[in-house]
Amino acid sequence: MISRQTIARILEEARIEEVIGEFVKLKKSGQNYKGLSPFTTERNPSFYVSPAKGIYKCFSSGKGGNAVNFLMEHEHFTYPEALQYLAKKYGIAIEVDAMTPEETQAESERETLFQVSAFAQKFFTDNLLETETGKAIGLAYLKGRDLKTDTIQKFQLGYSPDGWDAFTKHALNNGYKLEYLEKTGLTITKDGRSYDRFRGRVIFPVHNISGRALGFGGRTLLTDDNVPKYVNSPESEIYNKSQILYGLYFAKSAIIRLDNCFLVEGYTDVISLHQAGIENVVASSGTALTEEQIRLIKRYTPNITILYDGDPAGIKASFRGIDMVLEQGMNVRIVLFPDGEDPDSFARKHRREELEELTGKGAQDFIRFKTSLLLKEAAGDPIRRAALIKEIVGSISLIPDPIFRSVYIKECSTLLEVQEPALMASLNRMLYQRNRRRMEQEATRQEVDYPVEFQPRQDKPEPESSEYQERDLIRLMLMYGNHDLMIADPVENGEPELHCIPVSRYIIEEIQRDHLKLLNPVYQKILDEFDQALQAGEIPDEKRFILGDEETPVSTTVIDLLWKPYELSENWIKNRVMVISEKEKLQQAVETTILSFKSKTIDRMIGEILQDIKTATDEEDIMALQMRHKALKEISRKINATLGRVVVR
Ligand code: CTP
Ligand code: MN
Repeated sequence: MISRQTIARILEEARIEEVIGEFVKLKKSGQNYKGLSPFTTERNPSFYVSPAKGIYKCFSSGKGGNAVNFLMEHEHFTYPEALQYLAKKYGIAIEVDAMTPEETQAESERETLFQVSAFAQKFFTDNLLETETGKAIGLAYLKGRDLKTDTIQKFQLGYSPDGWDAFTKHALNNGYKLEYLEKTGLTITKDGRSYDRFRGRVIFPVHNISGRALGFGGRTLLTDDNVPKYVNSPESEIYNKSQILYGLYFAKSAIIRLDNCFLVEGYTDVISLHQAGIENVVASSGTALTEEQIRLIKRYTPNITILYDGDPAGIKASFRGIDMVLEQGMNVRIVLFPDGEDPDSFARKHRREELEELTGKGAQDFIRFKTSLLLKEAAGDPIRRAALIKEIVGSISLIPDPIFRSVYIKECSTLLEVQEPALMASLNRMLYQRNRRRMEQEATRQEVDYPVEFQPRQDKPEPESSEYQERDLIRLMLMYGNHDLMIADPVENGEPELHCIPVSRYIIEEIQRDHLKLLNPVYQKILDEFDQALQAGEIPDEKRFILGDEETPVSTTVIDLLWKPYELSENWIKNRVMVISEKEKLQQAVETTILSFKSKTIDRMIGEILQDIKTATDEEDIMALQMRHKALKEISRKINATLGRVVVR
């Protein structure tokens, strides 16, 4: 575990505009920076970064957080990875807290596996580029496929010597334990003998998103059909195939820049396209796309173009997988390569312009593509035609955006020569059935971490709710919690005694004195946290609530409250809190906000009592309620009178 001090230090030193600036083009706008959201495809910038507060807020996707959150969201880093990235960027030494023995073991085991992989990658690459056999066999093969040396170096390609156990021996001699060589799959032990998994093969290292090698693919140089063309690393603690896309590390900045991701099948396709100048390309490595992989791409772009080199049968087999991509709300396009060509061979045989033409203008929308392919097959067969209509509408029904759905229905109505309303009806039936199924499933599912009432952003609170007032209070605590207020305590027969008290303590004391609670549980939670910290002698600032390790209702709320454009929303003005002069008139603002909160709360209590009076039957009860009603009315009157005039001490 990275120590709390180190985390605090990293959050302290990291300049959020620099961190985010590496991924998003930011422009200064007042005290903040502004840019296009990297999470959506907006045209008008609504992505804000506040250097002063160290946070960002994306108004089009609703995401927000500090530098750590951003890296986790955008780069798909884990929490420790994001911290490590920042520590490295700002030259901060990472201190590690004592971990439980299990944690130490799990962590160091993963790290060891990474180190073994890095060692192997270097061994294979050195072998390819620096040994006589490596050059004569491996390098000659790659050069024969028109790969240039800098491409080979960029992708860290290698060669595993054809001996029985050349790599295993070398690693053992360098102190790597056999256990870890086996766990990474680099070495296979059978009947007490250990040998190299990749012997005699050209090596394609697979990198994670931060560029560390974590697995390998090895291609044979033989043309024997009995020898598998590729041998791959098995799954391991660090290599989870369903969560990795080959080439993503090299492609991610181009994917963001071009707002599109090409998907190919093989290692060599990725590398060839790169060499031909197309860098926004990743490979699924011959297997069906997983949901995790789709989400990985979606972090960078909602647009995906699948490059196919197969025959119609193979393409049809992939339709199911593509439905999953549609379901994620991504726009899918298809490029078909001419017979017998794959992206690699095409890129080598054609000029760059032709390649760009084919993958750009030559890309067809998936639904349109699927429709025309199936139509061709069903020509003249009414039964197959009916099935095909259902199939197409099924794909359309998966698209989350209703606007896109209706565009496709319109278009397919023309292509299929079926009336639009008929298609619409069929679509609605599917949507309805799916919705009902989903609701049934959800009803049986267990409750998640936070109960439903944890919904901090009620955009339109009930008239009697004190949401606005509570929000104001919490915001004052967060922004000015450590500022001092001057308080005059009345002293019998003498001058009132003046003393200082921090805003946060004052607010808490005021609320606790009257035994009140905030209605919004998230606000109450923040208040409790303040209370605990104050009792321990410290005044928390917003950083305490935005550690970045997880997105909780609390941190989301804190980010929203701290965000400038949000403060200026209508609600603030309606509630007559003067944003501009707030800092100077802090004392007054705190007073007013507390009184407004109390006033609202009392109004609500009065409402409840009136209800009780209506339903009460016992005479004595009614009397008691009426007394209480009168008392509350009196307090309410006083508060409102105070609120009505300008409070100056
Ligand atoms: N693949 C695999 N095992 C195999 C065949 C293929 O793991 N026996 C995976 C590899 O990741 C490969 C991808 O499927 O990159 C696509 O297969 P294919 O098109 O046959 O390989 P290419 O990468 O195009 O290799 P080459 O151009 O050298 O034939
Ligand atoms: Mn190929």
